[in-house]
Amino acid sequence: MSWGVKNRLSRIIRNGRCVMLAVDHGYFLGPTSGLENLGKALPPLLPHADALMLTRGALRTSVLPESAPPIVLRVSGGPSVLKEDLSDEYITTSVEEAVRLNASAVTMSIFVGSAHESRTIANLGKLVNEAERYGLPVLAVTAVGKDMARDARYLGLCCRMAAEQGAHVVKTYHCEGFEKVVEATPVPLIIAGGKKVPEREALQLARNAIESGAIGVDMGRNIFQSDNPTGMIRAVRAIVHENASVDSAYDLYKRKVPAR
Ligand code: R5P
Repeated sequence: MSWGVKNRLSRIIRNGRCVMLAVDHGYFLGPTSGLENLGKALPPLLPHADALMLTRGALRTSVLPESAPPIVLRVSGGPSVLKEDLSDEYITTSVEEAVRLNASAVTMSIFVGSAHESRTIANLGKLVNEAERYGLPVLAVTAVGKDMARDARYLGLCCRMAAEQGAHVVKTYHCEGFEKVVEATPVPLIIAGGKKVPEREALQLARNAIESGAIGVDMGRNIFQSDNPTGMIRAVRAIVHENASVDSAYDLYKRKVPAR
């Protein structure tokens, strides 16, 4: 790993752990509930995030350069939620643009088992080739098609394929037997939050993920769709960085933080 890749990764992964705030949903979902106005939704959350995952359009329009945490820039896209097959993705943002935006990493999705599986894997390989030229790490996202089982066998396949293409970090879903996925993936794993669930359940998910070997979370809807988003990101942070129990994190979630 080059010095630049290591240095950029160390901005995102602090003391071996990471709380990434995912707000890239609009790249195929449009104005997702809770993110209709990014400029209003983000400022209270940013001080609690180790990194922010979003598209270039969201970054340029809705985040002040002076107050941005390290950026993980989504560089893939294509189909909208209106399409049956979401796997038809291309690389839409150049590595040059990522460097211009001072991104700390670039990210894209692979769709193993889907119609455009091969293209997304080739996209990843090419992105690693180009990003490494500039010392930029690549975070691969294992997107799961509607028909795929989210089990250790399938997710293990996706994560291993991403790592074999050279991804430096992989984002995937938690599952039963997640330890096996961790064991067989030679790069760090972070887990996505998934659909909004009750806060205690989302905190339990974060705790289970850390206990079974994930280095952190890349959570979106379970933070920004919470009735107390700032409390929720602080609670997730306590689990990831301080090994807090679900009960004590839940107490933190319920606390209202005065606006700055
Ligand atoms: C999905 O592909 C997006 O990249 C999201 O960033 C990801 O799903 C994490 O967000 P959430 O916790 O809402 O699932």
